[in-house]
Amino acid sequence: MEHYTPEILISDDEIAARIEALGNQITKDFENQEVVVICVLKGSYVFCADLIRKIQLPLRLEFVACSSYGESMSSSGNVHIDLDVTGSIENQNVIIVEDIVDTGLTIKTLLETFKLRRPKSLKLASLLYKPSRLKYSIDIDYLAFEIEDKFVIGYGLDYAGRYRELPYIGILNAGH
Ligand code: PRP
Repeated sequence: MEHYTPEILISDDEIAARIEALGNQITKDFENQEVVVICVLKGSYVFCADLIRKIQLPLRLEFVACSSYGESMSSSGNVHIDLDVTGSIENQNVIIVEDIVDTGLTIKTLLETFKLRRPKSLKLASLLYKPSRLKYSIDIDYLAFEIEDKFVIGYGLDYAGRYRELPYIGILNAGH
């Protein structure tokens, strides 16, 4: 199989610099407190792994996995939580870590779900945000990059399960 090298949209150095800044901000915002970081599988696992190593706080890591289904591929349907966190988040400082806020449906559902569990605080960190595609009002507390409506891959993001291993964020062009 041919090895495809996509056009680079955001380099690994640019990603590292933003993650360091976000980690420093989170460290400052939650000074002397513990945080529970919830990694939304699969896409955010690379971002989350790098981000938690830039947060200088006591930290507990949890994972969730979701699938959306319904009317179309544009995420207009429902979101089902396939894998839930294993520990309580009640009275905890919770930070959900996403790779991308696209229509916003996934994160809207997760924020509503976790809010019901009475965390002390509930924040959102996202690597990417596509404002042109947003259908729901979402506040991103810690955002690395706002991008145009291009199909992006790498650094955790996939196309048909592939390209997650790329160290940068690339653009998938037609034909691949
Ligand atoms: C992607 C991404 C977000 C969601 C964003 O997940 O990781 O969770 O879609 O889209 P939305 O804002 O329109 O809801 P995907 O379903 O591709 O799963 P994956 O992370 O396992 O690749």
